[in-house]
Amino acid sequence: MKSGNPTRIAGMGACLPTKVLSNFDLEKMVDTTDEWIRTRTGIRERRIVENGSATSDLALQAGREAVRNAGLKPTDIDLVIVATITPDMSFPSTACIVQNKLGAHHAAAFDMAAACSGFPYALSVADGMIRGGAHRNILVIGAEVLSPFIDWTDRSTCILFGDGAGAAVVSESSAKARGLLATYLGSDGSAAEILKIPAGGSAMPPTQRTVAEKMHTVKMSGSELFKIAVRTMGDAVQEVCKRAGWKLEDVDCLIPHQANLRIIQAVAERLETPMEKIFLNLEKYGNMSAASTAVALYEAAKSGAVRPGSNVILVAFGGGLTWAACAIKW
Ligand SMILES: CC(C)(COP(=O)(O)OP(=O)(O)OC[C@H]1O[C@@H](n2cnc3c(N)ncnc32)[C@H](O)[C@@H]1OP(=O)(O)O)[C@@H](O)C(=O)NCCC(=O)NCCS
Repeated sequence: MKSGNPTRIAGMGACLPTKVLSNFDLEKMVDTTDEWIRTRTGIRERRIVENGSATSDLALQAGREAVRNAGLKPTDIDLVIVATITPDMSFPSTACIVQNKLGAHHAAAFDMAAACSGFPYALSVADGMIRGGAHRNILVIGAEVLSPFIDWTDRSTCILFGDGAGAAVVSESSAKARGLLATYLGSDGSAAEILKIPAGGSAMPPTQRTVAEKMHTVKMSGSELFKIAVRTMGDAVQEVCKRAGWKLEDVDCLIPHQANLRIIQAVAERLETPMEKIFLNLEKYGNMSAASTAVALYEAAKSGAVRPGSNVILVAFGGGLTWAACAIKW
């Protein structure tokens, strides 16, 4: 259980590129079928940026909507956190680019790299910073433009990912029993090798060879990740429920990272949670890494799957490895 002022999600936003890349489009690009992708992953289509749009462009639109929906002005925001593994550039941070374009003139800004767990990781950090008293309104954005970092000739990875952004304003709350009740973060760097983009950093700076060998694209050991994802997300849900003082049956809506429907079904089975309580949108967007749970929470609230008073769990898993969960009384 946490101490200090409780925090709540005061407003949300999302931005999805308009260009749709369907499984049928992928059939023309690699040796795959719509049927294989649907049955192995649950994904039908994903969104892809056009015209050189960068992560900050999607993040800005999602962030602007979240601030508006929170009933705030950009100048009310005192910190911008962008969770991303596809920043516009190494530095300045994507958060600084968003801070400037949004007109959040009183905000500090930094990026957070926790891969697909980035959004719940950043929510947890924002929650702690508000409870600590240093900030009042924090804009948390999960945003990715993954499409340039995909090997579009590798059928085992290119079918999975998409671009997008989701955002939440985290603010102080006066209601003790509402808002972010508990968070839980974990990592295991010993398994870093099974999901990564090897080149582009200081360990393997860009060279003609790294480009020719496509070392700037996502490399993944899918079946190994699958098993770890089921275990860590299941454990994370149980731990965050314990911290929130909930039993699993108390959860009204479970919003998992949208990587693969079969992973989500296996987590549901492990937790003995009916699929009706689980929010899904991966069919439309695939895995958008840090944007996935952000966009899913946005859509869950918009569709009425999450209502005032709902007990909501966000849970994610990703490269690092990292995992994270948040328990939210909506
Ligand atoms: C990637 C994933 C969908 C693959 O599904 P899978 O059931 O594990 O499939 P496998 O990797 O065992 O491959 C089975 C076969 O399908 C083939 N295959 C892989 N991708 C294919 C595709 N897009 N179309 C057709 N066949 C494909 C493989 O080559 C393999 O063929 P083989 O048996 O002749 O060698 C699945 O492992 C997965 O989703 N893992 C988690 C990935 C993830 O979530 N990553 C992000 C974490 S944040």
